[in-house]
Order: sequence, then C-alpha cells, then structure tokens
Amino acid sequence: MERIEFIKKFAVGGSILLTTPMLFNSCSDDDEDLVPTNPDEVVINLNAASSADLSTVGGFIYSGNIIVFRTGDNAYLALSKVCTHSQCTVTYNHAAENVPCPCHGSRFSTTGAVLNGPAASALKKYNVKLEGNSLIIT
Ligand code: FES
Repeated sequence: MERIEFIKKFAVGGSILLTTPMLFNSCSDDDEDLVPTNPDEVVINLNAASSADLSTVGGFIYSGNIIVFRTGDNAYLALSKVCTHSQCTVTYNHAAENVPCPCHGSRFSTTGAVLNGPAASALKKYNVKLEGNSLIIT
C-alpha cells in the first residue's frame, strides 16, 4: 500500500470514528434524563408512564433485573431479581408481600432477607437516591 493510499484510508476511518458518537448523542436529546451517567447505574424517570406504579406507597415496578419498591413518602428500595441460590429470576408476590423464587422455593422478604431456603443469602440490595423526578439506582 502506497503511503498516500494509507493516509486516505486512515482519514476516512478516522472521520467515521469521530462522527459516530455525535450521531448517538443526537438521538438521546429527547430522553436525556433517562441516560445513566455511569454504566453501573440505572436511572428511572418517575414521570414516565412505565413508572406510574411507583406513584403510590406500596407500588413496585421491574426495571431490567431490578425490582423497585416504593416504601414510603419519597422512600424507595431496589432489589436484584436474581435469586442467590442458582440465579433464577424472582418476582414480587404483592398479595403475600414477599419475593418467591419459582425454581426451588426460596422466599425473600421485601428487604431481600431470606425467609426460607434453599437460598442462604439475601437478594442483592441496591442504593437508591431520589434526585428531582429521577431515581438513581447503583
Ligand atoms: S434458584 Fe431460587 S431457589 Fe433455587
């Protein structure tokens, strides 16, 4: 490859690399408040329709692998949906107010504590911070 040919190819490739982030940024303007600033955090917009069940105390939603509960006025709690026994997905049983695992019968409290095994350890509990109309879960 001739030197000038290499420079031309590098210039085209570099332009694509430099403009790609701008394309993604232009798409995110509408839902800017939903974009996490940290890849390890989840941001929930409490004004979104998908968060409507968090508008009342006792409400809950699922967000990815997380169950988010509203436990009081401006108080929220977030638990992992991944069972600590063998990683099955748990769901909240609102009527019984506990979190059973369908695979082997473990049950967890709404704070994540083990109520009965075989799971031996609590569900992962996340930090939840209310910032304006957003929950920041880390
Ligand atoms: S994976 Fe949940 S009880 Fe076994």
